[in-house]
Amino acid sequence: DWVMKDHIAEAVEAIRAQVGNEEVILGLSGGVDSSVAAALIHRAIGDQLTCVFVDHGLLRLDEGKQVMDMFVGKLHAKVVHVDASEQFLGKLAGVSDPEAKRKIIGREFVEVFQAEAKKLTNAKWLAQGTIYPDVIESGGAKSKKAVTIKSHHNVGGLPETLGLKLLEPLRDLFKDEVRELGVALGLPPEMVYRHPFPGPGLGVRILGEIKRDYADLLRRADAIFIEELRNTRDEKTGKTWYELTSQAFTVFLPVKSVGVMGDGRTYDYVVALRAVQTTDFMTADWAELPYSLLKRVSGRIINEVRGINRVTYDVSSKPPATIEWE
Ligand code: XMP
Repeated sequence: DWVMKDHIAEAVEAIRAQVGNEEVILGLSGGVDSSVAAALIHRAIGDQLTCVFVDHGLLRLDEGKQVMDMFVGKLHAKVVHVDASEQFLGKLAGVSDPEAKRKIIGREFVEVFQAEAKKLTNAKWLAQGTIYPDVIESGGAKSKKAVTIKSHHNVGGLPETLGLKLLEPLRDLFKDEVRELGVALGLPPEMVYRHPFPGPGLGVRILGEIKRDYADLLRRADAIFIEELRNTRDEKTGKTWYELTSQAFTVFLPVKSVGVMGDGRTYDYVVALRAVQTTDFMTADWAELPYSLLKRVSGRIINEVRGINRVTYDVSSKPPATIEWE
């Protein structure tokens, strides 16, 4: 559409005027905002942009590959893919307190990103996918509740530490506009309309201590749940259950329960499926997914993911439960 094309042309001009021939780095997370910012800045300045994609070992199934296929394979952007999973999982070993886990992940993230950024010695700019609601939120910090229920990790203070100028091309846009812009820039709708995913990733969806084996089981179970949500349509609305939910995911419970398989007894882990509907994520209702869908998901997870023998569905709304389990 013309309006969007004009908007892209204008934004591209503004970025070129701002950075000139200087180099820019951007932390690519695979989330909507950083992806759209990367695509837009790449459109404007091509190889003057280097994206840094940090894999903390707590991403979803094939997520790293999808990000690389899109940004390197299709857009031909420069992306440094850092596999820091050993480092993250090493620091997380033995830690089971949810807030302690979040802090470690946040701190390691800043450290790994900074180390990579320092290698890019020509960079003068740090680009971030800050959008308008983020701007308002940080401006209104005083009115925020005094008690942090969960510390949300976002990378603050980085540009100062690194001595970089800040480039925030999405600062004036609302989420819907960011999504439209992303599609107009050629990003796949599945990426642009993906449910939100927390910064600490699967780290807050593996209850208690995080282990690589747990993360591997969870990734496979979660991929099945999401695939079935995407493939199942509600007859009344014609929409998929992925579209009809605001956020859906699988939680790994480090609890073993007894089951039977063939002639044998199993003693394996449990997962919980979580799906919610919400407009603001401050309150949320658990989604009334069709039983047939739940049955298919549970059957597939138990059959396909050896090591999980029981699937439960979380029927708690927020409040008093939160959306994530940690
Ligand atoms: P809760 O669990 O508090 O989650 O109901 C509300 C929304 O926030 C997301 N969330 C996070 N996002 N870092 C993030 O970037 C975090 O540490 C974090 N914790 C929760 C959650 O996925 C939901 O969309």
